[in-house]
Amino acid sequence: MTEQLHGLYVRDLRVSFDGFTAVDGVSLDVAPGDIRFLIGPNGAGKTTLVDAVTGLVKATGSVRFGDRELLGRPVHRISRLGVGRTFQTSTVFEELTVLQNLDIAAGARRGWATLLRRRHGVPDEVAEALEVIGLASRADQLAGTLAHGQKQWLEIGMLLVQDARLLLLDEPVAGMSHEERDATGQLLEQVSRDRTVVVIEHDMDFLRRFARTVTVLHAGKVLSEGTVAQVQADPRVQEVYLGHPVDAGTAPTATEA
Ligand SMILES: Nc1ncnc2c1ncn2[C@@H]1O[C@H](COP(=O)(O)OP(=O)(O)OP(=O)(O)O)[C@@H](O)[C@H]1O
Ligand SMILES: [Mg+2]
Repeated sequence: MTEQLHGLYVRDLRVSFDGFTAVDGVSLDVAPGDIRFLIGPNGAGKTTLVDAVTGLVKATGSVRFGDRELLGRPVHRISRLGVGRTFQTSTVFEELTVLQNLDIAAGARRGWATLLRRRHGVPDEVAEALEVIGLASRADQLAGTLAHGQKQWLEIGMLLVQDARLLLLDEPVAGMSHEERDATGQLLEQVSRDRTVVVIEHDMDFLRRFARTVTVLHAGKVLSEGTVAQVQADPRVQEVYLGHPVDAGTAPTATEA
């Protein structure tokens, strides 16, 4: 499986909406198997960056997953190259069971012929995903009755059965309990063994525990990048998040660097 482990390489990415530049020349590398957190204030361009990578908005520059250029390809082609994403709001089919949701996602990859063929039992990749996301005991429960956190895990499971090798998750732990956040972090660690993971997230506690690397976006540009410790120590990041550097002994003017 490791031969399918690829990195994400973004170069001079730009996205404009009617003259407003939401992503303004972003370059970043996410190493194969990394868990990269993408943070930044509201409107920084985080979701738009993911939209550009997945083909939902037009962009200029370059986005490679492994050696494949993604820009210019339609959404379904990018998805077939192993790029999967979740949205800030859940997109599971609430009136279907957990198993049916996974089966449909798997079917979308296998094609309609396989989906329409009457099958008995649960396909291997679906059974495996049910275990990984911790919902095996809830396979026959309606997705609409799942707890908020469980719906996010189901969404991640739907990407796993599609064999996504790059997961782009938009605020996966928003609204989750502390226990659900922990379980989600552990899920990310597990899936990153043979996948590359990019997580948009505001939750600093979650970031400290589970980020391997961090990119901070601000006003469409990369403000800071590095390990959690490096980014947290960056006065520019403190300025953007708190309006002043974190160290109480440091005057607000100590941000000129
Ligand atoms: N379809 C669109 N048309 C016009 N402007 C847009 C569109 N999508 C996003 N924008 C603008 O682009 C900027 C970046 O938005 P984006 O959703 O990427 O931010 P974000 O970093 O994900 O913020 P949040 O943390 O609130 O989710 C914002 O100013 C937003 O209003
Ligand atoms: Mg967003």
